[in-house]
Amino acid sequence: MTEWGAGRLVLAIETSCDDTSVALLEDGARLRAHVVAGQDVHRLYGGVVPELASRAHLTQLPLAMRAALDEAGGSLEDVTGLAVTHAPGLVGSLVIGVAYAKALALSLGRPLVGIDHIEAHLHSAGLEHGEAAEPFVALVVSGGHTELVSVPRFGEAHWLGATLDDAAGEAFDKVAKRLGLGFPGGPAIEALAREGRADAFAFPRPMLDRPGCDLSFSGLKTAVGHALAGAGPPPWPRAQVADVAASFQAAVVETLVEKCVRALAMTGARVLRLGGGVACNGALRVALGTRCESLGVTLQVPAPRFCVDNAAMIAWVGARRLARGEAAGPELDAASSLEASGLA
Ligand code: KG4
Ligand code: ZN
Repeated sequence: MTEWGAGRLVLAIETSCDDTSVALLEDGARLRAHVVAGQDVHRLYGGVVPELASRAHLTQLPLAMRAALDEAGGSLEDVTGLAVTHAPGLVGSLVIGVAYAKALALSLGRPLVGIDHIEAHLHSAGLEHGEAAEPFVALVVSGGHTELVSVPRFGEAHWLGATLDDAAGEAFDKVAKRLGLGFPGGPAIEALAREGRADAFAFPRPMLDRPGCDLSFSGLKTAVGHALAGAGPPPWPRAQVADVAASFQAAVVETLVEKCVRALAMTGARVLRLGGGVACNGALRVALGTRCESLGVTLQVPAPRFCVDNAAMIAWVGARRLARGEAAGPELDAASSLEASGLA
């Protein structure tokens, strides 16, 4: 045994989309190593190209593994269990991580659990805030998902609502592309929105006129398109693009905040957790913080590096599942959809 100590050490792998990530978590709480390798190749195409993502994982995963072990200063023999994202996501990308994890588990003789990517996002605040005071509500808002979930206890999740079309991050990415801001769009829109007026355009607040927690962002994206069509051909003045960015962001933020408030009212939960790449958005964090404070609700927002796709959150959930004695058999497979993951 190395200086890592005698605690249980979980090795986690995340390859569900375009980030290759490896983490080592000791005793379910102490992050000994965390490596996230992005894939710049997709910038050329303005979006993630599935086959290129799989191929990049194939070459990056062994390097990320080596880097994580070096960061922690130990060896694979110290690992007591493994966790890998197996659903949902790009199947070709998930397969790389699952195959790698299965081979490692077999050769090390250690248990492996398959982790639902969405379950990991909704628990990711636990890495800094510890165990949740359950029940809690979680908003998972990323490039592929926009879901409001109620968590009565660890291992259980009830869907309160979800987007009916585009995910919020997808809307950020598509609007950014339309504005010529590049990929991924969320950070670019947030940066430019700081220069713009949030009330310059009266974009719709989708689904707020309907009961429940479902969301929709494709109409909002279309409304932005109409506003731009009326502005003549590009290039548009920077101030005008900034106004569009600020007004669009305000519409997304207000919609998400109102739906979170509804979810809290429906469940009576006093804790709200955020997860997913869009949870990096400063305007969303501030607006939710203000609203939660006025409601007396505790808001738990992960650091940006735990909001985006990362293996630390996979390790956090994996450590708890392994501690419950769970272990996947050889049939563990990758699945693209949420239903296939069994959590929905
Ligand atoms: O969770 P994530 O890394 O990957 C997915 O599972 O999708 O989220 C990526 C998404 C992208 O759509 C990106 O534009 C968005 O999160 N995003 C943001 C911000 N940072 C990342 N959206 C709004 N504001 C941000 N600051
Ligand atoms: Zn994600």
